[in-house]
Amino acid sequence: MGFLNKLFGNKTEEEKTMTNTKLKIGIILGSTREGRVSPQVGEWVKGIADQRGDADYEIVDIADFKLPFLGTTDGSEPGIAAWNQKLASLDGFVFVVQEYNHSITGALKNALDFAREAWYNKAAGIVSYGSTGGARAAEHLRGILAELKVADVRTHPTLSLFTDFENGSVFKPADLHQTNMTAMLDEVNAWSGALKTIR
Ligand SMILES: Cc1cc2nc3c(=O)[nH]c(=O)nc-3n(C[C@H](O)[C@H](O)[C@H](O)COP(=O)(O)O)c2cc1C
Repeated sequence: MGFLNKLFGNKTEEEKTMTNTKLKIGIILGSTREGRVSPQVGEWVKGIADQRGDADYEIVDIADFKLPFLGTTDGSEPGIAAWNQKLASLDGFVFVVQEYNHSITGALKNALDFAREAWYNKAAGIVSYGSTGGARAAEHLRGILAELKVADVRTHPTLSLFTDFENGSVFKPADLHQTNMTAMLDEVNAWSGALKTIR
């Protein structure tokens, strides 16, 4: 019966659940400082993503989890477990990355370090900003993601603090970034779906 089902394309209940359930993609805001611009960028990503209807997209704000600095507490803060549960519930990620001293923020690195298995065998895209589009921070993040078994896709929208933000604070993205965002989300979805099959 299993063989005939395979031959004629009838899906098992398990396969139906896997293919019918929409992927869950978290849009992770990498900065937590007062006055940050990452929520504006995150909303823009979500706006483009939601129009696609191909996955459930949600903004995941590291600040909401009130993570302590890794190793400085007994680890009982509820935010640590909640952070891991949130990541475990997601199939893929879009990291909203800002450049701080040519790298990612300390807050994002701390949050990355606070989980392990919850990251494994998932896909991610990166959208970054800074004076040079946040490229240096994004490349640092790629190295970290490799260690966490997160497959980072190639297409990478880079936003300039000079031309995509008014006064470095009001987000007004150039139209061209929309095309890159779409290509990046195509890749994140394809890889997130593929990697789900090996978890
Ligand atoms: C501590 C710090 C270091 C920064 N270093 C850089 C840098 O090396 N390169 C760069 O392009 N921008 C740098 N910036 C500018 C930030 O990219 C810019 O302020 C951006 O808006 C920060 O993201 P956020 O508003 O989401 O916090 C730095 C900002 C801060 C606060």
